[in-house]
Amino acid sequence: MKSYLKFITCGSVDDGKSTLIGHMLYDAKLIYADQKRSLELDSKVGSRDGELDYSLLLDGLMAEREQGITIDVAYRYFNTEERSFIVADTPGHEQYTRNMAVGASFADLAIILVDATQGVLSQTKRHVYICSMMGIKHFVLAVNKMDLVSYSEARFEEIKHDFLRLMATHTVHSLQALPVSATQGDNITLRSNNMPWFKGDPLLTYLEKIDVSEDISQLGFVLPIQRVSRPNQSFRGFQGQIETGEIQTGSMITVLPSNESAKVKEIYVGDKQVKKALAGQPVTLTLDREVDISRGSVLCVDKDLITSDLITATLLWMDDNELVTGRNYLIHVGTKTLPAIVMAIKYKVDIHTGAHIATDKLLKNEIGIVEISVSEPLVFDVFSHRRAMGSLILVDRVSHMTSACGAIEKSMRRSTDIAFQVSDITRDIRSLQKGQKPITLWFTGLSGSGKSTLANEVEKRLVALGKHTMLLDGDNVRRGLNKNLGFEEADRVENIRRVAEVAKLMNEAGLIVLTSFISPYEEDRQNARSIIGDAYIEIYVNTSLEICEGRDPKGLYKKARNGEILNFTGISSPYEVPLEPHLMTDSGTLSIEASTDQVMEMILKRL
Ligand code: ADX
Repeated sequence: MKSYLKFITCGSVDDGKSTLIGHMLYDAKLIYADQKRSLELDSKVGSRDGELDYSLLLDGLMAEREQGITIDVAYRYFNTEERSFIVADTPGHEQYTRNMAVGASFADLAIILVDATQGVLSQTKRHVYICSMMGIKHFVLAVNKMDLVSYSEARFEEIKHDFLRLMATHTVHSLQALPVSATQGDNITLRSNNMPWFKGDPLLTYLEKIDVSEDISQLGFVLPIQRVSRPNQSFRGFQGQIETGEIQTGSMITVLPSNESAKVKEIYVGDKQVKKALAGQPVTLTLDREVDISRGSVLCVDKDLITSDLITATLLWMDDNELVTGRNYLIHVGTKTLPAIVMAIKYKVDIHTGAHIATDKLLKNEIGIVEISVSEPLVFDVFSHRRAMGSLILVDRVSHMTSACGAIEKSMRRSTDIAFQVSDITRDIRSLQKGQKPITLWFTGLSGSGKSTLANEVEKRLVALGKHTMLLDGDNVRRGLNKNLGFEEADRVENIRRVAEVAKLMNEAGLIVLTSFISPYEEDRQNARSIIGDAYIEIYVNTSLEICEGRDPKGLYKKARNGEILNFTGISSPYEVPLEPHLMTDSGTLSIEASTDQVMEMILKRL
């Protein structure tokens, strides 16, 4: 089997990236005859002196790329006698950092292009940083446009020197510097006659020879399960792609995070039964005994993976909306997906200088070191040890867009250090004693919408029925538990998270809880819902802004309009209308009694 090399080309806009790859394909006769003819025609129109414009070739290929995907990376597959190649070509502008990160995450080698007339630029540092962060350890420095510097060896050496200094802070397994001219074809597929002082192989030959095989087969066996196959009663196969190591029939495996063990009975690659399978192969395994395995479980041999619910990771933030700590995302690692919260941003990195900068938010394209808390123990490895199990993405729970990709640096604690203490007196017993089913009535709406008034009326009715209640009100909780929080987005996220946790504890105590908080963000209400669980009942007090502002019980709208209060909900800060409240009521048109009746009617059967 021919080996294959996955690589990425990184350059700034005019560095000649597309021309470089295009030229390589052309010279190596790697393009189809009709592509070649159309290239000749197009070039006559577009380029100087009717010369071939090789970049058109790649642009044409890029136009073929799948439409409708948000990530703008063009993959090109080609073969030579020696090797198969997959190249990710990514746009070079600054705002395309995310594309480069996506391209780099799949690649083993990066070609970093530097324009000989410009030398190493700050973009070059950014490219190297991102490639390195995404785990690339093999680099080629292609000093392009050598024809424009008279093929000067001194200039090449100068740039190479600068580049080596830059690489000193990164993990590098191989590094080759090549002087090339992508337009003229020097050192692309053939050795250049213009630079006899350069003794190395031309680029394509180098790429054919370079050994990037990491020692993944020497690492212990790891198989993240994608699917459990049960075609009939007797067969139960566990499917996935082996990330590292190898497995044989008869080997003992451990299932994480449950820690159960079993012996491998059969191994299938496709529908062929084999005795042994290796890293990179998709397999189906059967085991000698019943163990609890589902998608996201990880099978391993050496148990050198980590199980923890608190991690430190480097994140590349890719969302248009800034990262706000405390917010809930979905984390994907291996084949597992779990709810997760970015608890804190330790610092962000200036990738031009490497400086650590204190911050409380990350903007699009920024890189930060963060602490992430996962809802359940997650099985992973640190990125530098096992890339496939140490890379993560964060997905927005509402838009389902990828908000960030990243690398797990370490576990902050073994989740086993904090065990859940089981007490003999349970929520059920406490509820029984109080003769009620605990719920949380979550009132949301604008300031002045009548949330607190309604919550107060509902509580009086409940107490009159002999129920045990507690009312948590924004203005009150902000005087005590949350007195360190203001009204910026991150503070509101934390406000709601704490209130949800408190409501949950009070439900545990058997109480019926009523909360009255603006809680303006849908994501945070969903987070509250996932913390509180089935007991959560959302009531949207839908009173129009005009009415709330007309009432202005605390005179705050007036102040907000005058600019005396910043981030005021409805005026200078958003209120996201609840998507699926259990009940919507309108205190603008209904009397308080009628609204209270509505709430009581809905909850009575639940108590
Ligand atoms: S929330 O957005 O974090 O849910 P919360 O309900 O706790 O807000 O607090 C809202 C109350 O704080 C309002 O009823 C109002 O009295 C007061 N307040 C002070 N400043 C603001 C502001 N900028 N935006 C909204 N409410 C504010």
